[in-house]
Amino acid sequence: MKKILVTGGLGFIGSHTVVELQNEGFEVVIIDDLSNSSETVLEGITSITNKKPIFEKIDLKIKSSVEDFFKAHNDISGVIHFAASKAVGESVENPLLYYENNLNTLIYMLKEVLDLQESNFIFSSSCTVYGQADTMPITESAPVKPAESPYGNTKQIGEEIIVDTCKVNSNLNAIALRYFNPIGAHPSANIGELPIGVPQNLVPYITQTGAGLRDCLSVFGDDYPTSDGTCVRDYIHVVDLAKAHVIALQRLLNRKNDSNFETFNVGTGVGSTVLEVINAFEKVSNSSLNYKFAPRRKGDVVSAYANTTRANTVLGWKANSSLEDAMQSAWKWEQKIRNL
Ligand code: WQD
Repeated sequence: MKKILVTGGLGFIGSHTVVELQNEGFEVVIIDDLSNSSETVLEGITSITNKKPIFEKIDLKIKSSVEDFFKAHNDISGVIHFAASKAVGESVENPLLYYENNLNTLIYMLKEVLDLQESNFIFSSSCTVYGQADTMPITESAPVKPAESPYGNTKQIGEEIIVDTCKVNSNLNAIALRYFNPIGAHPSANIGELPIGVPQNLVPYITQTGAGLRDCLSVFGDDYPTSDGTCVRDYIHVVDLAKAHVIALQRLLNRKNDSNFETFNVGTGVGSTVLEVINAFEKVSNSSLNYKFAPRRKGDVVSAYANTTRANTVLGWKANSSLEDAMQSAWKWEQKIRNL
């Protein structure tokens, strides 16, 4: 049974990926610093798979802690690296926190991965590397544009660090998965998104409004050049996204990769406006959502949705769930954690 390290494995995407790795028969070791997650997620994972992952609370910003971990776990066959700060707005207010937490940790991880018997590395990247792409849907060859935030910049720089490291270390095999907008929760509703404080992202804000925790959703801008004036995004079910990580890892383990650094867009290929997301929620919850239009949010791009040809034909992965399926799972999760 191959052992896989998942950093940030108690986070939203990380925890769903741990479940899918266990379903595929991998032994999973989780590192998480619990700065944006909770150890209760471990119970949630175990309740789904009946296999408790090994968990170590480690601050990956401490180089010696990373070194010590790999001394004790030198039999790791692959690493999926989620651990990072990810709030766009917070990154603008506190850039050094983001450069330290997202890049120092990546460097320390890569140094250790290079010394493993099998140096397979999956990097959590983002569609934010494209900025406002010139054409839709966005392909992996779209130019990387100046990041709109320090968070987005850490994803761009992170990919560059990996590219340069792969160039001079042929034993390192890496894939960067560029996520679009992950939403939803595991169908069991035993794990899901746990935003701390006021949700920055659209879907948790919608479900919290639907649950009565928030009075009213503000729709940031209704005058964009889109079908209904609101921004377009590619909302992908988090379980579909998690499965893409397992498939990408297996690609490296089985040496199916075409080069030792590859990128794939991970989205549905379908763009949905904010109003369409609201409609999907109203349909699955059979309720009317309280929302109002508000000024545009700084840093928002008008439209971003994926060209998934490479993911579908080269990686061999395709999203299965629709926007409604994802909203259904998000609402079921919200109802469960609020005991509704
Ligand atoms: C979506 C749309 C908002 C909240 C996020 C992450 C980014 C990346 C992709 C991982 C936008 C609108 C939102 C609200 C609203 N993920 N909105 N009212 O900004 O596309 O990017 O996913 O790398 O890191 O930040 O997602 O959910 O914040 O916004 O109208 O209360 O919903 O303007 O058009 P975004 P989001």
